Amino acid sequence: MIENITILPGIKKNGLKEDFEDIYISKGEIVGIVGPTGSGKSALIEDIEQLAQRDTITNRKILINGKIPDSTLRFDPKKKLIAQLSQNMNFLADMSVEDFLTLHSKCRGKSDKLINTVIENANTLTGEPINRKMNLTVLSGGQSRSLMVADVAFISDSPIVLIDEIENAGIKKHKAMELLSGNGKIILVVTHDPLLALMTQRRIVMKGGGIEKIIQTTGDETHLCKHLNKIDNQLFNIRELVRSGNEVTSLIFEPSQIV
Ligand SMILES: Nc1ncnc2c1ncn2[C@@H]1O[C@H](COP(=O)(O)OP(=O)(O)O)[C@@H](O)[C@H]1O
Ligand SMILES: [Mg+2]
Repeated sequence: MIENITILPGIKKNGLKEDFEDIYISKGEIVGIVGPTGSGKSALIEDIEQLAQRDTITNRKILINGKIPDSTLRFDPKKKLIAQLSQNMNFLADMSVEDFLTLHSKCRGKSDKLINTVIENANTLTGEPINRKMNLTVLSGGQSRSLMVADVAFISDSPIVLIDEIENAGIKKHKAMELLSGNGKIILVVTHDPLLALMTQRRIVMKGGGIEKIIQTTGDETHLCKHLNKIDNQLFNIRELVRSGNEVTSLIFEPSQIV
């Protein structure tokens, strides 16, 4: 069982040691990772994915429950604790949604009753419903991403979930994070999206390949995040109206409702 992970400082791009106290992330926590392009966000995610032991480009070390993880956790795919959703994921398999989910739940030793749960939940994230008979290759970007999120939430059910920039996916982001964060998982999310960054409890700021600082989310930011979520849902609904060939006739929300 995973209670927490620890990130120990490594070396920045300029060769100097990262200047931060060991970072503990506990079960149930969502942590953001922010910073400009090239600042080392993906490298940090990869360190955690690989449970780095001073053997990656950053020289960082990752502990599980305060200890060096057993090498089977690192290298045996059946024991993998970590699920990753990355930006450019697409389904390549030529099979139906139903067949894919059946196969995956069988591999993971899960009941195939979960298939309905996965499809129902995926359909709360996307405006275009997924049908179990659809072929994976015809799914839109939003549909594929929704299916992956629901699959990670219910079938993979890994205790650690790493997300690299989910924002362009055209899905209900806030809802997706809620689904993923269920059951006390540890979630790290790389994002430039204020809605996602502000729904975390804290965010790691990257600079020059190193962890520069950690910002605790303030009460004001959490409050703002609730409003951003409303705006995001409205935008989602308007987008669906336009997509399905409807007119957007009335102002769906008044600006005064937003603040
Ligand atoms: N601490 C580091 N030391 C050396 N190179 C690094 C370090 N962190 C990141 N890099 C390298 O810098 C480049 C940009 O990092 P990346 O993680 O892709 O940035 P981001 O995801 O923020 O755009 C990559 O080639 C990566 O391997
Ligand atoms: Mg990146």
